[in-house]
Amino acid sequence: MNNYEFLCPTKIIFGKDTHKEIGARIKPYADKVLFHYGGGSIKASGLYDDVVASLKEAGIQFEELGGVKPNPRLELVHEGVKLCREKGIEFILAVGGGSVIDSAKAIAMGACYDGDVWDIYSGEAEAKKALPVATILTIPAAGSESSPSSVITNYATKRKVGHTTELIRPVFSITNPELCMTLPKNQMANGVSDMMSHIFERYFTHTQHTDLTDSLCEATLRTITKNARILVRDYENYNAWAEIVQCGSFAHNDFLGVGRDQDWACHAMEHELSAIYDIPHGAGLSILTPAWMRYVYKENFPMFMQFAVNVMGVSGTFRTPDEMINVAIDRLESFYREIGLPVRLCEVNIDATHLQHMADMAAGTKTIGGLKKLNADDVLSIYRMALK
Ligand code: NZQ
Ligand code: ZN
Repeated sequence: MNNYEFLCPTKIIFGKDTHKEIGARIKPYADKVLFHYGGGSIKASGLYDDVVASLKEAGIQFEELGGVKPNPRLELVHEGVKLCREKGIEFILAVGGGSVIDSAKAIAMGACYDGDVWDIYSGEAEAKKALPVATILTIPAAGSESSPSSVITNYATKRKVGHTTELIRPVFSITNPELCMTLPKNQMANGVSDMMSHIFERYFTHTQHTDLTDSLCEATLRTITKNARILVRDYENYNAWAEIVQCGSFAHNDFLGVGRDQDWACHAMEHELSAIYDIPHGAGLSILTPAWMRYVYKENFPMFMQFAVNVMGVSGTFRTPDEMINVAIDRLESFYREIGLPVRLCEVNIDATHLQHMADMAAGTKTIGGLKKLNADDVLSIYRMALK
């Protein structure tokens, strides 16, 4: 096991009706808030009205900035930064999914930085300060509600870039599973794919003596697949949503990744896909993950055997590991299909046109991945395997 430090200070406030406490929850931090949200789902569901009522009741002044799109854009972040400066905003409330939360985190850094916040994402500047951020989560997926990361897309340069700093880990996040029931089914599936990938990126490692985190990863993966299947047939099942919401936060606050070398190749490859084609992050991951697994599993047979048996429930003779591992990857792919996810690029209308460019962007000047270090040729091979 590797040395590690672990601190996740985000307070998770979980359960029914918890979002109605938002005003009182913010009050100890600030009186002037930016209320940041997406493209309208919170108005349709009534969540917007609940938030406004609670903020007013607590005597909190707020400015609103809606309109965050999936794969959140730099332009709206700039608008948010301007608004924060003009109105003396002290605190940002993000109500939505990973895109809204990531946009809020970018605004939080930008409001405390004199130049263009993109400098921080491009690595030219370091964030020294950020406004505090809190969230009301409406989709279990990205794990941004308790992660120290934010991923922003600059469409002018077609770059989707993440930045990680403890400054932007939310101070608290309200996670009420009831709020997820208005999600379109494909968004539930995208979220499930993303949280599973957050675990895969941590699970597949060469680090030895990680029994506890191996088991926690495996249990979380089994919990996700079991409860996603329940939701496919019974979408209003509160207990299944509760399990999925809980898994989504734990999948990405790094508790499952402590003491392990981590991989992150699939995320690096996926960010190139969604930067160019604007597809949902989770859908990109359900396409790339099986191809990546087939490409790399020989780097660590025992780890993939463990995955086959403990996660995908494959039984058989351990003298045929290749066969067992391939059955496990096939089963993962079938699970993705079962919940409505794409597993090939052609299913989301992506052909070979930009594969070389994406491979160069993902790994042109460096290698990506921990289990197997992938150069641009490896990445291109994986993209090609995922085509049809
Ligand atoms: O904008 P609205 O109208 O709210 O609609 C959203 C959006 O269209 C809709 N939605 C969300 N909650 C809903 C709902 N519709 C009905 N009812 C609800 N309760 O769902 C759509 C997708 O929302 P989005 O926020 O984009 O989803 P997600 O949470 O999957 O976030 C994806 C983004 O997070 C980044 C991804 O790259 C992507 O940009 N990630 C962020 C990470 C982080 N900060 O730690 C890590 C991840 O690996 C990921 O990269
Ligand atoms: Zn992700």
